[in-house]
Amino acid sequence: MTIGRFPNTRLRRNRRDSFTRRLVRETTLTTDDLIWPIFITEGTGVETDVASMPGVKRVSLDRLAAHVAPAAELDIPALALFPITPPELRDEKGTEAMDPDNLMCRAARLLKQEFPEIGLIGDVALDPYTSHGHDGLIVDGYVVNDPSVAVLKDLALNQAAAGIDIIAPSDMMDGRIGTIRETLDAQGMVDTRIMSYAVKYASAFYGPFRDALGSGGLLKGDKKTYQMDPANSEEALREVALDLAEGADMVMVKPGMPYLDIIQKVREKFAVPTFAYQVSGEYAMMMAAIQNGWLDRDRTILESLLSFKRAGANGILTYFAVDAARLLLKG
Ligand code: PBG
Repeated sequence: MTIGRFPNTRLRRNRRDSFTRRLVRETTLTTDDLIWPIFITEGTGVETDVASMPGVKRVSLDRLAAHVAPAAELDIPALALFPITPPELRDEKGTEAMDPDNLMCRAARLLKQEFPEIGLIGDVALDPYTSHGHDGLIVDGYVVNDPSVAVLKDLALNQAAAGIDIIAPSDMMDGRIGTIRETLDAQGMVDTRIMSYAVKYASAFYGPFRDALGSGGLLKGDKKTYQMDPANSEEALREVALDLAEGADMVMVKPGMPYLDIIQKVREKFAVPTFAYQVSGEYAMMMAAIQNGWLDRDRTILESLLSFKRAGANGILTYFAVDAARLLLKG
């Protein structure tokens, strides 16, 4: 790299006008980068606010098409679906997850019919369905790995059969990607993609999401025996290597903004499609400041999302997806 010297070299010259700023810009954010996570709930005529996520709603199926229509009009490529299972349908084993007529499957069928062009991403983990709020099965107080994988593969198959395009295991069990890939292939579902939550940290930033799902109050203990230690980054690369070897088509790093270093490392080392999840707590933090008038809404949203692209992410799961797409349209 040649490094010039002041006064011959003045980096401010390229910043002087909008046209040069545009010409030298290294990273861009477009609507193609956005994935919108949505919360679906049982009942009819339901559209309730998530208290800790201002602007985010839980929506029943009869309102789902209207809720999703703006995303379709804005050409957002994909949605990530999260079902809210009422306590009476939850049990120790998350049996509801395997019901072909559960909320998730009904939502997938409805959305595929209404908006065939939008990609559907299905979260694979047991926590929306278990009475204890953990992502796997519990034996003697411990979340057991292999028996959990044996159930999670059925959950994945159930979702794929309902029309989910991208299976996204978020459970962090070892070996689940390989088992899910084999299971899908054995059913001829060779084109169902897998976006692995390969690097998912045991993070405090999921709090508002658990409020939205109603699993926060149920959760006994924490998820530190399966989600990653926030102190580790070499381990993150091992997680990604294993998931790719097992057949993941895309990988994800989660949470987002506190882990931009991990996104950058993953992208540089593996050069595979890498996604970031700007999680509920990040959304809550920004919205709290925006609502207080402490941060400028539009600029904060776009800058936060651009930072993921700069770090190397191919796309971002964000609760701001629709807002961001509208802002990008305005230019
Ligand atoms: C479930 C799951 C979680 C999130 C996505 N899938 C929560 C958790 O692991 O407890 C969090 C998303 C968010 O905070 O926005 N396994």
